Amino acid sequence: MTRRKLLSLIPVAGCAPAYALGVEPNWLERTHTQVKLPCRNLTSGVRILHLSDFHASVVVPFSLIENSVEMGLDAKPDVICLTGDFVTDATPFDQVEYRRILRRLSSAAPVVACLGNHDGGIWSAKTGGLTDSSVVCGLLKAGNVSLLHNASEVVRVRDQAIRFAGVADLWSYTVNGDLAFAGASADNPAILLAHNPDAKDKLANRPWDLMLSGHTHGGQVVLPFLGERFVPIRDKRFVAGLKQWNGRQVYVTRGVGSIDGIRVNCRPEVTVLDLSS
Ligand SMILES: [Fe+2]
Repeated sequence: MTRRKLLSLIPVAGCAPAYALGVEPNWLERTHTQVKLPCRNLTSGVRILHLSDFHASVVVPFSLIENSVEMGLDAKPDVICLTGDFVTDATPFDQVEYRRILRRLSSAAPVVACLGNHDGGIWSAKTGGLTDSSVVCGLLKAGNVSLLHNASEVVRVRDQAIRFAGVADLWSYTVNGDLAFAGASADNPAILLAHNPDAKDKLANRPWDLMLSGHTHGGQVVLPFLGERFVPIRDKRFVAGLKQWNGRQVYVTRGVGSIDGIRVNCRPEVTVLDLSS
């Protein structure tokens, strides 16, 4: 590289922090993915809006969360799944505003959810966050969101019964597959909501077809040659996107917010999944 070329890169390098902090974290991308459930006989396609990791905090404004909601609703989903990390820490937030945004979702379609590691529990308490999940549970209830905390619910979507099962966050050490799948039969398609994709191993013997997760933020900072810089999971194959796993499928969304408000080569994601047989 000549000296002149090297000097020409200085302004670009100088802009990088501004881009990583001010541009990319707010640059939502709506992705569309076809998910075929080969063992299921769906009479018509089902569209799922999957949002995760809102991380409402000083670095993730409600405007970003609301923009993700509106972008998702533009796709006219049949059902909406939220996979945890609604907040980042115990800092008080505007509950009225957050509730209003969640109600925007629940007024458009049924909304089911699970909790993330930041929403209260052993890990959250140990790291100075919420000591329990009462604040987030109250928020979800007020927003007409059905929290599936080691529980499941059958939702009728386009005249088809689909079971949605949700589990506690893996790092809370309270995942309970018996409760989450109580009464479940192998007859209905089943979608599992689990914040951390590593939960798949613990739930390998349960009757689910597709697992929806977040937690990784897609790696958040993805550098050339070095790859993802934020990978808080054991099974590093499940950082983002649709993956096949032992005859099942797992979708890990990059999520909407982040912990520190930085993203590089990893735009926040509004995920639309089209299920078919
Ligand atoms: Fe998260």
